[in-house]
Amino acid sequence: MKIGSLQLKNRVLLAPMAGIADLPYRIVMKRFGASLVCSEMISAKGLIYAGPRTRELLISSEAERPLAIQLFGNDPHDLAEAAKRIESDGDLLDLNLGCPVSKVVRGGSGSALLKDPPRVKKILRAVRAATSHPLTIKIRSGWDHETINFLEIGRIAEDEGVDAITLHPRTRSQGFSGEAQWDQIRQLKAAIGIPIIGSGDIFEPRDALKMVEVTGCDAVMIGRGSYGNPWLIRDTVRLLQGEAPCCAPTYREKKLAALEHLALQVDFSGERKALLEMRKHLCWYVRGLKGAASFRASINQAPTVVAQEALLDHFFSSLQAEDEGLNVS
Ligand SMILES: Cc1cc2nc3c(=O)[nH]c(=O)nc-3n(C[C@H](O)[C@H](O)[C@H](O)COP(=O)(O)O)c2cc1C
Repeated sequence: MKIGSLQLKNRVLLAPMAGIADLPYRIVMKRFGASLVCSEMISAKGLIYAGPRTRELLISSEAERPLAIQLFGNDPHDLAEAAKRIESDGDLLDLNLGCPVSKVVRGGSGSALLKDPPRVKKILRAVRAATSHPLTIKIRSGWDHETINFLEIGRIAEDEGVDAITLHPRTRSQGFSGEAQWDQIRQLKAAIGIPIIGSGDIFEPRDALKMVEVTGCDAVMIGRGSYGNPWLIRDTVRLLQGEAPCCAPTYREKKLAALEHLALQVDFSGERKALLEMRKHLCWYVRGLKGAASFRASINQAPTVVAQEALLDHFFSSLQAEDEGLNVS
């Protein structure tokens, strides 16, 4: 799988997810095999005018390279200037043309751009000229069901030298409701010559295989399915490469992955922030397991990271002991 000049080692990418896929999260998913991870979305204006706080989102490490950096904005000059400024921070530039969040669309960015194809053209022309990196766009299928225009946007992107397109086939007005319309990924792939990355509703490795079979997409992008479940990335990589599935993770493996994620978060954001940030992730690691509800209640009360570690240890050790017929209290 190649995007412009960037060779990827497999066809499984981690979705950009603001507020979730920070550096520790991306490192975990990278270790489990994601071939490309992406920064949280970064405001072009913020990067140019606001300075240090926006640049925090660019903090990265060798462990996650190659790295895509995602920008949002709606002014061609700002986006081109921002593209130049981040040239040395990543390996690929992605433009967000799909974010449905009100604050973003009110400023004419994200999925609001789908309503203005001429502006999209100007933006792509300016940014293409400003960066030497592979350039991708990430889109939804349209603003609402009456203005579905992913094919028009796709053609503009191809004409303007974009190297790949990710389509999350829901409209802005759908939010995350209903099902992703994978047939739209198939239509885009059939109409456009550059690589197409499919995004939406991959929760099992077999969903990814089905998406590839049904749509012909060149790669898949996994978002929500990876919450507390980096094994989805590992197993999807294996399945798409025609390799036999691995065993399901043991309790010990789950505990170690969660502890590693926690340690990375402490390194990245310090204990106080990690304590809060990790609550949701740790709950995701135990989702569906016996005792998850009471684990959730106690993790949200844990006063320190050490207490969180102890809760994790106890939770998984108890399950393991139960499996082995031991009695741990
Ligand atoms: C919490 C959250 C944050 C997201 N943030 C971004 C973002 O910053 N940029 C973007 O292009 N897409 C963003 N997305 C959309 C995802 O990248 C992906 O396209 C979408 O979730 C569908 O894939 P999934 O069904 O595998 O989650 C976000 C999704 C979620 C759930």
